[in-house]
Amino acid sequence: MYYERHIFVCENERSPGERISCAKKNSEILKYLKQNSKTSYKGSGKLRVQRAGCLDRCEQGPVLVSYPEGKWFSLKSIEDAKRFLEKYIVSDDLDSIRDLEILDQNI
Ligand code: FES
Repeated sequence: MYYERHIFVCENERSPGERISCAKKNSEILKYLKQNSKTSYKGSGKLRVQRAGCLDRCEQGPVLVSYPEGKWFSLKSIEDAKRFLEKYIVSDDLDSIRDLEILDQNI
């Protein structure tokens, strides 16, 4: 596996009146994660955070998905992004950020 962890952050933007989209909030979250994740990450392999188009979970957004584990999250603020980075990416402590996880994986 080339990346030990690969995180896709939806940055899709739609016009007003269309289906809700993630871009407004996720643009600042993507920027924060890109700026801070590489220096914080202590894993043995490579980490990549990148923008993605619509991941089709728009109503649960703003969304991101982390592979290879396939966990989905909704981060609504920079404070959430800090917790995600510190607790999940750095410490692998999923239990402490369960409130950010999108649990219904079957939609
Ligand atoms: S616009 Fe983000 S999941 Fe669809």
